[in-house]
Amino acid sequence: MIKLGVLASGSGSNFQSIVDSTESGYLDARVAVLITDKPEAYAIERAKKHEIEQLVLIPKNFPDRDTYYSHIADELKKRGVDLVILAGFMRVVGSPLIDQYRERIMNIHPALLPSFPGLHGQKQAADYGVRISGCTVHFVDEGMDTGPVIIQAAVPAYHDDTEESLGKRILKQEHKIFPYAIRLFSEGRLSVEGRKVIIKGEREDSVIINPPLDMD
Ligand code: GAR
Repeated sequence: MIKLGVLASGSGSNFQSIVDSTESGYLDARVAVLITDKPEAYAIERAKKHEIEQLVLIPKNFPDRDTYYSHIADELKKRGVDLVILAGFMRVVGSPLIDQYRERIMNIHPALLPSFPGLHGQKQAADYGVRISGCTVHFVDEGMDTGPVIIQAAVPAYHDDTEESLGKRILKQEHKIFPYAIRLFSEGRLSVEGRKVIIKGEREDSVIINPPLDMD
């Protein structure tokens, strides 16, 4: 069984889907700690309900960014965390944490990277007018949403989509692919070669076209 450390800034619905996956046995993993940078994050309530330890670590209480992230790394290591999960953690992670957990930090992003990185990926995609968007789980490197891609889910996008409507469609898939990516890790099926993630036993999937071609 692997130990997870989850970092979240907000509602924590991804955190919830991961906790649920550990409790149902889908994931052979346990969440050892939830760390948040926001005292008002609803993720804290979710952690309490599941008796998961919560740590509120606010950047402004630390002298600088490096100290903040090395403190987080220390807290994770103290608890024997194997894999760090960024579940709606709205910050670019600093190198002291990345160095300690290289290729052992996963982030979920609400767009098909490398399109629409940064904040409000759903709004960026809706405003651009793409026909397909989705979400991406990737390993974290020093850049903003630039690390090697593990898994992506595509959803259709429509001309009248808003950040909210598209975001809701994407979020539903986030809750599926994030636990799956963690499962691949825990089964030892992931390795990284340069920019590419190799998945042991990977299968092929079919094409996704939006709008569909059956228009007659
Ligand atoms: C999710 O949509 C996640 O992809 C996004 O924040 C949301 C958090 O929701 N993350 C980012 O935009 C990171 N750049 P949640 O708190 O309900 O899991």
